Formats: sequence, structure tokens, C-alpha cells
Amino acid sequence: MARVSSSIYTALSLLVGIFIGFSIATWLRAHLRICQKQEEILPKPPPNFDDLPPDKRLLFVGIMTAQKFLDTRALTVYQTWGQTIPGKLAFFSSQNSVSKYDIPIVPLERVTDHYPPQKKSFMMLKFMYDNYIDKFEWFMRADDDVYIKADVMEKFLRSVNSSTPLFMGQSGMGKKEELGQLGISSYENFCMGGPGMIFSRETLRRIAPHIQYCLTHLYSFHEDVEIGRCVRQFANISCTWNYEMLHILYHNTSSKADEKLSYIGNLYKDYVLRATSLHPFKVTPHMYRAHAFFDALHARDLRHATLQLTRDASDMDALLGDRRTDRGRLALHPGLSRAPPAGKYDTVAYDFISRSLYSEKNSNPKRGPETATRDALESVVMALMRDANAASRERGRVIDFKEVLYGYVGVDPPRGATWVVDVLMTYKKYAGRKMTVPVRRHVYLQQAFTDVQFREETREDGAEASEGATVSNAYKTLQESLGVGLNLAGGLGGGGGDAENGHEDWVRAKVVHFILPLAGRFATFQRFMNNFESVCLRNDEAVKLAVILFEHAADDAIGDTVALVGELRGRYPHHELAVVHAKGPFSRAPALEIGARQYGRDALLFFVDVDMHFDAAFLQRVRLNTVQSRSVYFPIVYSQFDPATVYADDAAPRDPLRVAEHTGYWRQFGFGIASMYHSDLRDAGGFDLSIVGWGKEDVDLFDKMVRGGNVTIHRAADPGIVHVYHRIECDAGLEPAQLAMCRGTRASTYGSQATLAATLYASPHLLDPVAAVPPAGDSEKA
Ligand SMILES: *[C@@H]1O[C@H](CO)[C@@H](O)[C@H](O)[C@H]1NC(C)=O
Ligand SMILES: *[C@@H]1O[C@H](CO)[C@@H](O)[C@H](O)[C@H]1NC(C)=O
Ligand SMILES: *[C@@H]1O[C@H](CO)[C@@H](O)[C@H](O)[C@H]1NC(C)=O
Ligand SMILES: *[C@@H]1O[C@H](CO)[C@@H](O)[C@H](O)[C@H]1NC(C)=O
Repeated sequence: MARVSSSIYTALSLLVGIFIGFSIATWLRAHLRICQKQEEILPKPPPNFDDLPPDKRLLFVGIMTAQKFLDTRALTVYQTWGQTIPGKLAFFSSQNSVSKYDIPIVPLERVTDHYPPQKKSFMMLKFMYDNYIDKFEWFMRADDDVYIKADVMEKFLRSVNSSTPLFMGQSGMGKKEELGQLGISSYENFCMGGPGMIFSRETLRRIAPHIQYCLTHLYSFHEDVEIGRCVRQFANISCTWNYEMLHILYHNTSSKADEKLSYIGNLYKDYVLRATSLHPFKVTPHMYRAHAFFDALHARDLRHATLQLTRDASDMDALLGDRRTDRGRLALHPGLSRAPPAGKYDTVAYDFISRSLYSEKNSNPKRGPETATRDALESVVMALMRDANAASRERGRVIDFKEVLYGYVGVDPPRGATWVVDVLMTYKKYAGRKMTVPVRRHVYLQQAFTDVQFREETREDGAEASEGATVSNAYKTLQESLGVGLNLAGGLGGGGGDAENGHEDWVRAKVVHFILPLAGRFATFQRFMNNFESVCLRNDEAVKLAVILFEHAADDAIGDTVALVGELRGRYPHHELAVVHAKGPFSRAPALEIGARQYGRDALLFFVDVDMHFDAAFLQRVRLNTVQSRSVYFPIVYSQFDPATVYADDAAPRDPLRVAEHTGYWRQFGFGIASMYHSDLRDAGGFDLSIVGWGKEDVDLFDKMVRGGNVTIHRAADPGIVHVYHRIECDAGLEPAQLAMCRGTRASTYGSQATLAATLYASPHLLDPVAAVPPAGDSEKA
């Protein structure tokens, strides 16, 4: 019995337990739902910023934006200059505004995004006052298309007393046609909204109690005019009349239609550098670009500081007689003297700049100065003028730049770039006896080189770059490459080393489809296949080869060619090596087109010639630089001079890939060697099959790629692929003009001008037959 009742009791208590549990759960759920609901309705309380460090208590920036700009302009501001200000910022938008991103938004109650944003602006000021009046010294109202240079702004604000009533900005008085309609009299102004307005704490304190009044006594549709009126009425001050504000808060006064174009050009301009804020940025990428630009300037200043410290340290070493540390190149003080040149190739060749640019090294020795040279000269002049005017105020004069009459620039690796500029300026004395005179100065200026610095951020496959070994290895490779001179791409392109990381494997797995047009020339083909075998087949590289073979009347080697490919196929059965027979006379465009069509749309094609010699690093660069729908690679090939001339008195072994001053030249205007995905070739329109013979088909394809615009063209000097010298045969049966042209081309492949000159100096008798004819110089003297 007892056992039964006890079991009933257990069952009962279980039931009760279940019931109670159930009701608690229901109650809890209902209650929680209410809590959640409340959380949804209640806006998050603004952060109180109680624990801000002192250097972050200077400025609070309120940015006026709207729901539709939160994920674009607001995000951009937050990710760029928003991270750097000496204080905090928030984005003020309409009620219920939300962003996909974690940015500080204040959705103002009962405020819409309608224009004009008068209510938004006044409510923002009230919010700043209510929450932060004691937390910050300055309050700024800014638009979402302003860029603020935080460091300059900080310097500026710390120079002004925030306990005085101040209202700073670009003062406006309204447009002409609105004169008398804004409810302000002719001597009153307001701070214009766009470039930004800055309130001292005292100003905000004075107007805050009257914001409701101001908001209900509006006289115009302009938000900035109304704020100005409120400040004048209740803080008893006007917007700063200071002309200087035009520079401090810079506004690119372009027309509405051109607004999208502001800040797209060269930013290295006086007014950009001098400004505290820049306005307007209507296109977000331009703001990221400007941010990167200012970051780069900052990095430059830091490098300069490093340089000066290194020089100081080195001077100290000298004073203390300490010779243990070699501080290298960086310790060199600027100076015009250098060690005497070691030989005739060791002199520094200067470029001459006047209206044209003259340089010894360029294939086009007289030409219009390139943008890079013009920009460099401009920055030199800016540095010069800053220096000249550094003490202007003390001396009561300013010096204005007029023009550069001419200049020289030379690059001297241990020291840097040296400029010699002849400038015309105007000297204006405004203190004491006033005068304005033109002055001309010969100026020497030196830009020091610093060490190469780089950091690997992320790898192509998205994995984090491993710190330490890889980076320092890469750095070493780069330094070594710079040391030997030209092998830069070899160090950077991933040709070297660390095969243990997955990245290398992933790229190496991309199959490169070689397409080689050929007619005759069996001996050269043998050399090509030797190179192909040792670089590709023996190392089991992922490659395929299609030889597009034409008949050649003079030297029919079809049988030998087919046999050689067949023999290699036998030895390397895993590799697809094909010979495709083509009909008709040799023509490169159809040949490459036939080759391309052997493979699918997703094949990485590499168009090559039988005269080429390449290495494994080059093959890897082809894979790295060719990305489907993204990038095609047109390497600039190094072309050998005649080894008989180059190595005339040199018994050293001839490395076919040797790139040096006088062994060859870069084929800047050759576009025949290229790699691209088949789909990108098709999208660009393929080869022009109407082009017969050699030449032009490559330029045509390059042009199409440029015009197509969808893929990036990667073009760079590549030391891993060389055009091996062969004598150009000129058929004596050619037209005289063509024959002369052919011989001219042949002559240009004999050797560099310096080599040819040296040959002549060494063997003056070569000139003997010419001596019979009066030399050109003599007739000029006569
Ligand atoms: C700033 O201005 C206030 C009020 O005008 C004044 O009392 C204070 O001394 C000033 N501070 C400085 C550092 O000049
Ligand atoms: C406002 O400033 C003017 C001139 O600075 C002064 O004469 C006037 O008394 C001030 N008014 C108030 C209310 O402070
Ligand atoms: C200002 O805008 C104009 C276009 O209206 C442009 O030509 C100029 O380069 C701009 N200035 C800057 C610094 O971008
Ligand atoms: C270029 O790219 C766009 C967007 O990916 C695509 O719609 C267009 O068809 C491409 N044009 C060509 C010629 O490939």
C-alpha cells in the first residue's frame, strides 16, 4: 500500500513539477519577448566616453548623413580618417537608420532624410550638447563627403582657446540672387555647411538652450544659414571672417556637374597639402585614394626622420671614434661631390630639362617631359618654395615662384637624385621699405634614397603571409637582386625558393599551353626543344606544347621536326606534345589561331617563338601574371646583340640569360610573346587573320586587349626570357630601299652604340676607308 501511495505521490509530484516547469517557461518566454521587444524599440544609449585617454578628448565630429549613404560614404569616412581623429565621431541620420556595418550611428528621433536637413543639424547639435559637452573641447559639424586630416586639424585646434566663443568655417553671405531673402543683413555671415563648421565648447554651450527656438524660427531653406543665425543671436558671434579659412577648410569649387571629378588627379598640390579638410568627395574610392596618399606622405616623413637620425648617429660615431658600425648609404650627408668615377661607364649622366627633356639613355633622346618627370619637378619646386618662405614672416617678405628656366636631374645610386634647377621668382618685401623684384636662383637639391622596405600582406590564395622566414627571405632575395642589378622580377615573382608552402604548388599546377609557329629552321628548333626539355619536361612542369608547322621551300625539315617531337613524346609520355600541320605559306596570325583552337576556353595559352630561351622562373611568372578574365601578360623580351661583338675579347662562358648593359636590349615595341587565357583571346576578338607573314598581328592583338578594357595588361621587362641572337639574312634580290632597311635592322643588332664605339676606338683603321671621304664635321666647319 505504502509502496502504491508513494508511487502515486511520485507521479503527482512529477505532474506538478511538469506543470510548474511549463508555466515558468511560458511566463519566462512571454517576459523575455517583452524584454526583446523593448530592446528593439529603445535606441542604444550613446557611449559615455568616460574612459577616453586625454589625447582623445579634443574633438567630437558629428557627420550629417542619410540612410542611403550609411553603407558607402559613412563607412568610407569611418574606415579612413575617422580612425585617426583626436577624439570621436558619429553619423547622424534619420530615425530608424541602420547599417550593415559596425559604425557609430545616431538615428535621430522624429528626423527624416528630407532636404533641407535643418532639423537633423539642430538635433545633432543638441545631442552633442546633451551627451558630450563636458567630454570634448571642440565640436564639428561635417558632411559625409569631407576628408579631415586629423593631425593637421589637431595642431590647428590646439592652437586656439576653446573657452572663448568661436564659430569657425568658410564664411558665406549667400548667393547673389538670394541677397536680402535669407533674413541676414549685408554685414552678417554664416559658416558654409559643405566644408564643415567648428564650434568651440563655449559656443555650443551658449546656443544649446535655444535650439528649439531657432528650429521654430526659420527664415530660409538653408541649414547653414539658420545655424549661423542661431549662433549670431545666442552666442553673439559670427563665422570667422578670416580669409585663411579658405585654405584651412579647402573646398574644390567646381561646378555641380564636375563634383565627381574632384581629387582624381595629382594630389601633390600646395592647396591639398596645406588644407586641414578637403571637400567634396562624391565618389568613395577617391576618398580611399586620398587616405592612402596622406598615409604615404606620413610614411615619407617618417623615413626622412629615420634618415636624419641615422646621419646624426653616424656623426656621433665619428666624434667618438667608434668605427664598429657601418651605417651605410643612409649615413651619407647630402653633397655634390662623389667619389671619382671608376671609368667611362661610371659617370652620372644627367637629364636636361627645359621645354623638352633630353636624356642620354632614352631611345627617344629629345621628347616632351613625361608626367612623372613633371610631377617630380613640381614637388622639387614645392619643397624649394617651402624652404624659401620658412622665415617669411620674421623677415617681412614673401618669395613667389614664377617658373623653372631649365634644370638637370641625375641619379647617383649611393646618394640619391640630384637636381640642379634654375628658377625665376619674385621677391616681395612688405615690411619696412616695400619692394618687388624678380630674382633668379640656381638651386641644388638632393633627394636621398632610403632602404627598400616592403611587407607581404596576403597571398593570392587568401592565406595570411607567414611572418618571419618567408618575408625575410623575400627581402633578402630582393636585396640580392637589386645588388646584381636587373634581376628584380626574379626575386619578386615567386621564381625562387620556398616550394614547401601551398601557394607555390597551387600556382605551379596551372598548365601552360605553349603555341609555337614554325617553318623550317630545324637547328634552332632543336635548341628550343633542348631548353624546353630541361626547363619543363625534366622538371615535370605542367605544360603542353603545340608546334604549328608550315612547309618551308628552302629548308624543308618537316620530317626531322616531327621525329624530334615524337622522340620526346616517347621519353615523356605524360606530356602532351603535338605537331599540327598547317597549309599554305607561313603566316603567324593564322598559326597562333590554329594553335589556340587546339585547346579549350579555360586553357592558359602562351605564344612563343622558336628563337626564345627561357627559364623556370619565367614560366612561373607566366602563371602568376595570367589570370582568367583578369590579367594577360605581355613580357618585354631581352634581345641579344651579336655575341661575336659583345664577347669579342671575353672568354667567359656565355650564359644565354645574361642581362647586362651591353649584351642586348629590351624589345620595348615587341608584343609577340604573350600569355592569356583562351577565353580572353576570344573576348578580345582573336587574331586578325588578314595579316600575312610576320609582324603587326601582335600589335593588333595588344591594341584589342587595350581597347577591350576588361582585362589588365601586365607588361614588364622579364629577365627570364631572351631572344637568342641570329643573323638577319637580307635577300640580295630585295628592292634597294627594302634592302637598305633590312641592312639597317641587321646593323642595329650587332651591338650597343657604346660597344660599337669602343670597337672603333680600339681599331681606328676601320675608319680608314671613310677618311678618304671628307667627314661630315669638316664640311660644317667650312
Ligand atoms: C581661454 O579663454 C578663457 C576665457 O576667455 C580665459 O579665461 C583663459 O585664460 C584662456 N586660456 C588661455 C590658455 O589663454
Ligand atoms: C554682442 O557683441 C557686441 C559687440 O561685440 C556687444 O556690443 C553686445 O553687447 C553683445 N551682446 C550681448 C548680448 O552679449
Ligand atoms: C578640382 O576640380 C576640378 C574639376 O572641376 C579638377 O580639374 C581639379 O583637379 C580639382 N582639384 C583637385 C585637387 O582635385
Ligand atoms: C566585360 O566584363 C563585363 C562584366 O564582367 C561583362 O558583362 C562584359 O561582357 C565583358 N566584356 C567583354 C568584351 O568580355
